[in-house]
Amino acid sequence: MKKLWGGRFEKVENPLMKKFNSSFEIDKRLIFDDIEGSIAHTKMLTKVGILREEEGSKIINGLEEILEDIKSGKLELIGDFEDVHSFVEFHLIQRIGILGKKLHTARSRNDQVVTDLKLFLKRECSIIIEKIKFLQQTIKKKADENPYIMAGFTHLQPAQVITFRHYLMAYFNMLERDKRRIQNAIDIMDECPLGSCALAGTTYDIDREFTAKVLGFKKPVENFLDGVSDRDFVLEILSDLSIIMMHLSRISEDFIIYSSCQFKFITLDDEFSTGSSIMPQKKNPDSLELIRGKTGRVYGNLMALLTTLKGLPLAYNKDMQEDKEAIFDSLDTVKNCLDILEGVIRTLKVNEEKILKAIEDGYLNATEVADYLVNKGVPFRDAHRIVGKIVLFCEEKGKNINELSLEEFKGFSSLFEEDIYDFIDYYKILNRGIKKIML
Ligand code: ARG
Repeated sequence: MKKLWGGRFEKVENPLMKKFNSSFEIDKRLIFDDIEGSIAHTKMLTKVGILREEEGSKIINGLEEILEDIKSGKLELIGDFEDVHSFVEFHLIQRIGILGKKLHTARSRNDQVVTDLKLFLKRECSIIIEKIKFLQQTIKKKADENPYIMAGFTHLQPAQVITFRHYLMAYFNMLERDKRRIQNAIDIMDECPLGSCALAGTTYDIDREFTAKVLGFKKPVENFLDGVSDRDFVLEILSDLSIIMMHLSRISEDFIIYSSCQFKFITLDDEFSTGSSIMPQKKNPDSLELIRGKTGRVYGNLMALLTTLKGLPLAYNKDMQEDKEAIFDSLDTVKNCLDILEGVIRTLKVNEEKILKAIEDGYLNATEVADYLVNKGVPFRDAHRIVGKIVLFCEEKGKNINELSLEEFKGFSSLFEEDIYDFIDYYKILNRGIKKIML
């Protein structure tokens, strides 16, 4: 019998219900964590004397064998099981006999599943952090190799001069916060729920501190009901993953624009581009569009679980089973996108010429012309208006500001002198004051 319950039932489940209820296809990913949790639980049961030493060793040996057989492929994660917990218990009993039935003493699947999920997510979060670090290294390298002066944008309109390095490092900094957010989520969830049992703890004198320690948690949870019904940590990671995707989507959008024929600031490598079945000339940034697109599904997973949990009465409810599909999918998606974006950035070419050409148009030194007048005592608001008129004049004449003659400058303010040209030179602008940080 593969079911963990049934004593009080007179009829078997409707086949539709059986299928509907089963989470094995999804939660089999928790297999290693489930076995790790069961081993820790067995050690604790032995320590407090609920299991005799030799019983404990037999159960642990059985669990370790299952683990080895799964790793070697001898035991496959298939079968008609309700969930991963039923799978493990069934195979344990098959191997060591009725002793295996003692494993579930002082435990419920309610505290078991949330412990499994925490163990799993701690590990997955470290993988995400490592992948973010790798992407950051690639960004830093690309930034250092391409320090060119460049037009920065606001509203996608040319604004002021920056450097390509400073531009790219903006994403490095965003990713730095992403790592901290994930680490923070791990820190907050670092409490062990095992021992909360179904919702009310147990009358056995178990040692939850010991279990928590064996599993590498800081401490056990304080409240049993909260322990089994808390899914904040899943939501928190889903939120953090959503913010990561928002960042990846923004860089994707930038690169889609910058790689367009109109900009050509960067060229994506063929390896991360695709073509059109009808238009032979096309090279499309599908890698970046997919990252941007998949952001929607990661947000969707967050909204789905927030909605699922809203209004659930304490403590455990089966609704919570929906948490795993959401978090697994978001983790897979984010890991893929981090890998792809790393490849895109590592292989892309930065077109210095096009970037330099673009600083010629757009009056990127207009703010500095105003600053020049401010230095001569003009209130900034008045200086702003004067330079607005200068820009209008330049637009009519088809000139850049630095192409105006001193006479023309003086037509707008007698305070302009020969040194204006030096003051609004793009390279000199970047060399002045706090802007030096960009170089
Ligand atoms: N599969 C369930 C989940 O993922 C855990 C089992 C709890 N089942 C129960 N009948 N209390 O949440």
